[in-house]
Amino acid sequence: MKRAEHGGNIYEIVQRLGIKEEEIIDFSANINPLGIPKDFKECLLLNINKIQKYPDPTYKDLIKEISEYHKIDSSWISVGNGATEVIFSMVREIKPKNSLILSPTFLEYERALKKVGSHIEYYELQEKNNFQIEDDFFNKLHDDIDLVILCNPNNPTSQLIVKSQMKKILNICKARNIHLMMDEAFMEFVENGDQESMIPLLKDYERMYIIKALTKFYALPGLRIGYGLSSNMKILKNIRNNQEPWSINSYAAMAGMVLKDEVYIQKSKEWITKERKRLYEELIKIKTLKVYPPSSNYILFKYLGSNKNLKEALLKSKILIRSCDNYKNLDDSFYRIAIKDKECNLKLLKALKEVSYED
Ligand SMILES: Cc1ncc(COP(=O)(O)O)c(C=O)c1O
Repeated sequence: MKRAEHGGNIYEIVQRLGIKEEEIIDFSANINPLGIPKDFKECLLLNINKIQKYPDPTYKDLIKEISEYHKIDSSWISVGNGATEVIFSMVREIKPKNSLILSPTFLEYERALKKVGSHIEYYELQEKNNFQIEDDFFNKLHDDIDLVILCNPNNPTSQLIVKSQMKKILNICKARNIHLMMDEAFMEFVENGDQESMIPLLKDYERMYIIKALTKFYALPGLRIGYGLSSNMKILKNIRNNQEPWSINSYAAMAGMVLKDEVYIQKSKEWITKERKRLYEELIKIKTLKVYPPSSNYILFKYLGSNKNLKEALLKSKILIRSCDNYKNLDDSFYRIAIKDKECNLKLLKALKEVSYED
């Protein structure tokens, strides 16, 4: 199976341009610009000797920290080498014959589903509705569907399925015995994300699964740590039994401490609230862009100018953005940008205005 292309592949670009990685401002990966939480960074540096030993294969401490943070039973938690591993292992154990996903959405769901031979149906999000799901989505949840995967907020559209809508979906899934997987990898960036999360409803339905990542909000993509939550003991037991031993390294096993870092969490929330508003309001002033209102830490827009390849045009200013041409239901006029710190965002705006002006 072919690999999917994602944002964050800065390596190919620096090689092609013959420049250093530090010279590029990377808007293609949606990572918190505050960087690794300071206390965790110190902990990593102090614990270099940990890699002389195997990690605890049951990841007791990590699971305890996750369980305390979400106030759920530890037996409901399955940890993995990034959220990606959790997605693949859950899909492998659910083994859906027929599945439903959004279009466009995070590319790895389709790959995980194809790997188990699932027939995939797509709900095509409409540009005219700012890529939000509409009531016709409920009709797609028919009896033949075994699993629906929803990315909330959705990547790359940055649209949130609000809790009232989610509850409606949950009720239909319950009535039709459909497994419901929700990827909340970006929920921490959403305004009042705690209230939008479906985690408190996990206890109500055994066929419900929530994917979480430490990657995005805590800026740890290279560490590879994510987890899945569910009250479905059978699926979780099978995942554990089939998981390769030590797929989470000793450093990643210590990452649970970031969940208690209130200062970092608060600072990150303040940054995202402020910068999301500021960047969005500036972007919509640029006439060659059609910008979709974001709910997460990234923004999708359509480029209306005649300069066909905006990504290449911005690379001249050493700015890397994510082309959305490999998403179903989008084309090469769509781009996704991460929201970064004020200084970087201003550089992006300046470069975008310049390209736009030339158009
Ligand atoms: C919605 C979503 N879920 C999961 C992941 C994967 O996260 P991880 O790096 O923890 O595997 C990504 C990465 O881009 C994502 O966009």
